[in-house]
Amino acid sequence: MLVSAKEMLQKAKAGHYAVGQFNINNLEWTKAILLTAQENNSPVILGVSEGAGKYMAGYKTVVGMVNGMLEELNITVPVALHLDHGSYDGCMKCIEAGFSSIMFDGSHYPIEENVAKTKELVQICAEKGLSLEAEVGAIGGEEDGVIGKGECADPNECKAIADLGVDMLAAGIGNIHGKYPANWEGLSFETLDAIQQLTGEMPLVLHGGTGIPDDMIKKAIDLGVAKINVNTECQLVFAEATREYIEAGKDLQGKGFDPRKLLAPGAEAIKAKVKEKMELFGSVNKA
Ligand code: 13P
Repeated sequence: MLVSAKEMLQKAKAGHYAVGQFNINNLEWTKAILLTAQENNSPVILGVSEGAGKYMAGYKTVVGMVNGMLEELNITVPVALHLDHGSYDGCMKCIEAGFSSIMFDGSHYPIEENVAKTKELVQICAEKGLSLEAEVGAIGGEEDGVIGKGECADPNECKAIADLGVDMLAAGIGNIHGKYPANWEGLSFETLDAIQQLTGEMPLVLHGGTGIPDDMIKKAIDLGVAKINVNTECQLVFAEATREYIEAGKDLQGKGFDPRKLLAPGAEAIKAKVKEKMELFGSVNKA
């Protein structure tokens, strides 16, 4: 059964580790991540962007697929199904479809409007038992065609949103989605420290996990990050493994064209990447 991310993140924050949010794109992705979480006895959050939800034939299809896998694959570790960077409408649709967690990304609204909309969602999520992530300070890079800059959030605005009763808070600290440019200045630990001091127990979320050096990830966890989102890195290893298979001509040998064979190296590559991240984040054996 899907669970809210609230408890797993509170445990992570108190235990000084982080739970990975791995974004899903299709059945292979979902299965690879769930099996890896189970094999490593780790809690996990499956992230679904609005674009990926549409691609997978809608939120209800996603909920059906994930619930089916939890049962058929005997997944017993805590799993949350989370809308990533949701609009207000997207949040409503996912609540109705059966997601167990949502992110309302109101970072592009003026703070008053972000507060007002987040407040409404706090109430609805509390009634229905879902966890809610809010965002302050836009996270740069490209996500579903929207390109933002790597802002640093205002710690006082973070405190204002945290006090509304959200379960986790994403705050921009110079992180961006996708690959980091060569001239990236790194995470702003000064900003993170200031946010954590004002928001206390609130589990903080680090978006744009792809390409952040391991030592920065560890320092971010030390400073209160309890959820780390990874998407692009799984896409890169999937593409690389699939390319190797095709370049080696394996799709032309025997029944190598069978999608169950063609997509297997990519799925294995995702499993290895997710395991590596779970070890780095410290969530192994924390289910
Ligand atoms: P990356 O694609 O950079 O790993 O970011 C993932 C993310 O933050 C999803 O919200």
